[in-house]
Amino acid sequence: METINVALIGQGFMGRTHSNAWGQVSKFFQTPIKPVMHTVFGQEEEDPRAFADNWGWQNASTNWEELVASAQIGLVDVVTPNFMHAPVARAAIAAGKPCSCEKPIAGTLDDAREMVEAAKAAKVKTFVWFNYRRCPAVGLAHQLVKQGKLGEIRHVRAAYLQDWADESIPLLWRFDKSLAGSGAHGDLNAHIVDMPRFVTGQEITEIAGAIAETFIKQRKLMSGTATGGIAAGAESAQGTGKVTVDDTVLFLARFSGGAVASFEAARQATGNQNRNTFEINGTKGSLKFNFERMNELEYYDATLSRAVQGWTTIMCTHGGDHPYVANWWPDAHLIGYEHGFTNQAYDILRVLAGEEPTVPIPDFEDAYQTQRVLEASLLSADQRRPVNLEEVK
Ligand SMILES: NC(=O)c1ccc[n+]([C@@H]2O[C@H](COP(=O)([O-])OP(=O)(O)OC[C@H]3O[C@@H](n4cnc5c(N)ncnc54)[C@H](O)[C@@H]3O)[C@@H](O)[C@H]2O)c1
Repeated sequence: METINVALIGQGFMGRTHSNAWGQVSKFFQTPIKPVMHTVFGQEEEDPRAFADNWGWQNASTNWEELVASAQIGLVDVVTPNFMHAPVARAAIAAGKPCSCEKPIAGTLDDAREMVEAAKAAKVKTFVWFNYRRCPAVGLAHQLVKQGKLGEIRHVRAAYLQDWADESIPLLWRFDKSLAGSGAHGDLNAHIVDMPRFVTGQEITEIAGAIAETFIKQRKLMSGTATGGIAAGAESAQGTGKVTVDDTVLFLARFSGGAVASFEAARQATGNQNRNTFEINGTKGSLKFNFERMNELEYYDATLSRAVQGWTTIMCTHGGDHPYVANWWPDAHLIGYEHGFTNQAYDILRVLAGEEPTVPIPDFEDAYQTQRVLEASLLSADQRRPVNLEEVK
């Protein structure tokens, strides 16, 4: 079987999810190409050799430039903070290698545009890890809309709420604009802009009424690095530093098909640990998804007689009817967070082999459209006015 040597650039939270995915994918799926876990990059103090041994990488490196350029590497997978996505992707593309990159595609729209242009010019395949598209329930939502089950879409309501960022959390890279680009916005709104774009097949055309707020403006400095789960293991040092990103961003939007929408991302919404949700209402029916119950999709069929209309909770675990699950477990033997990443690794390998992905997979160009929406909403919040997406290119 054909193989491809993967280089993983970063070994934090996403370093672990991607390592798990590359290690599992050819065990559960018949992949057209077998990924070889060739080398992981980490910073010296993170002990990349120990990470490599634990996760099954053959080699460890503390020099990403050299690693990306190495003739032995076939695919570059980027799981670093956002400011590094562009330089690493640029180096991969310059070396003629396909590149899969974590979301948001970049910290800034300029970086994102440059990544798209470089990939187009070099004709390399690119991928962005909007992993929630690869939950079977979200894939099913996409398929139901495509089959016309919702009719004309009128409303999209999306919220991604977390509550980990209280005063005790030190100044992680996630709170620094030069490293992250934005806060909850790029971290969480990126996902809930991508998912409805994917599910409805429509683009956002206008933003209005955006609000960005930073509640905690100074945080304690950080000592060392976090150990792999957003803020897990992060310790404070002496002194404080300025937070330069948002804690929350909310905005309203219009979709190309006429639907109106609301979006909210928050990191201090106590009681909501990872509440990643959307609801879509159409003339023939509605759908609801909540990642905290990720195996389920709620469907309301408005074409039934009123006497029997009601929300149906679909357990999206039936192989054959629901995407990806035929390769996992029997009905109602649930899957979890990590499976979305393995499903994505499978589709990356399919696309690299010239096959169609199970459901559409975002490349840099696709993720750039999400980045334009993020940029437009920050502009709307900053200038307190509606922003047409045509303004943001
Ligand atoms: N798809 C998702 O649901 C999801 C979830 C979390 C994070 N992410 C994205 O994944 C990326 C990484 O996030 P994470 O949570 O894994 O972060 P993390 O802090 O856990 O890990 C980041 C890794 O990058 C390395 N790194 C940090 N600064 C560096 C520097 N200056 N030079 C070289 N290496 C450096 C770190 O050493 C670490 O190995 C981000 O783009 C983030 O937005 C995506």
